[in-house]
Amino acid sequence: MIIVGVDGSRAGLEAAGWAAGEAALRGTPLRLVHAMPSWACEEDASGRLAEVARWMREGGRTVLAAAENRVRGEQPGIAVETGLLPGDPRAALIEAARDAELVVVGDHGLGGVRGLLVGSVAYGVAAHAECDVALVREVPVAPRDEVVAGVDGSPTAGRVLDVAFREAELRKLTLRAVHAWSLPQAGGFLSPAGDGERDQVLMLKERLAGHRERHPGVVVVEEVVHGHPVAALRQAAAGAELLVVGSRGYGTLKGMVLGSVSQAMVHHAPCPLLVAKRDR
Ligand SMILES: Nc1ncnc2c1ncn2[C@@H]1O[C@H](COP(=O)(O)OP(=O)(O)OP(=O)(O)O)[C@@H](O)[C@H]1O
Ligand SMILES: [Mg+2]
Repeated sequence: MIIVGVDGSRAGLEAAGWAAGEAALRGTPLRLVHAMPSWACEEDASGRLAEVARWMREGGRTVLAAAENRVRGEQPGIAVETGLLPGDPRAALIEAARDAELVVVGDHGLGGVRGLLVGSVAYGVAAHAECDVALVREVPVAPRDEVVAGVDGSPTAGRVLDVAFREAELRKLTLRAVHAWSLPQAGGFLSPAGDGERDQVLMLKERLAGHRERHPGVVVVEEVVHGHPVAALRQAAAGAELLVVGSRGYGTLKGMVLGSVSQAMVHHAPCPLLVAKRDR
């Protein structure tokens, strides 16, 4: 099951469209959800608020119907259901995604505090959902035919590549595996040593080997960059169809917190972003 949050914004609708495409590719049902305050969901409320609650539920159903209309039009083959969820949208989406394989949100919503790169619901879901999260933002008009994966030396790299190879295969796209590295800075600029570079190239090859065997149809481009991973990934993903990164959660917090590169990508990825979480 793929879950997508809609809030009546254009970004939410774009997210629903993206999620429907993904559901069609994966052959998975899609659930459109809209969260609203719990009191507005109580059908048997009485008193002055009851009228407001009824009006809000109607608004929520309209939001869901608009999204449902769009996804049924674009992807008539997929199974679609809708749900009004009570509570804070972050908590509601994270809870709804508990047993899902993927939760999808737009980068902005109706709130739109000026200057924020990403909305609070989008950020909260990306950081705290236990399943994989897709953050949909300005899909490039003519995307480069590539899925880009950020590969580091950590244990999460295997999961990132699982997801990225699968996406490249489903979408019939090239997979660009990007590994950025740098020497520790010692009070100034250090130029890369030749051997360091060779080690990094070997590391990436080793990481990719098993995945390549399992997905012989996927064309892979290996890119080892000397520099900061955030800059390298932003550059590599500009105009790409999808960027996949890990969540690099810290052990003690059970993978619930994003690492700094993932965080930066949630804010700055130049294309739709998929954050691969830990093995479930
Ligand atoms: N009430 C909601 N129900 C379901 N999904 C939601 C809801 N609110 C937001 N979303 C999802 O989260 C995405 C991002 O919206 P978000 O609320 O984070 O941005 P914003 O409204 O611009 O910021 P903020 O709410 O922090 O002011 C939306 O495109 C939608 O996918
Ligand atoms: Mg909002």
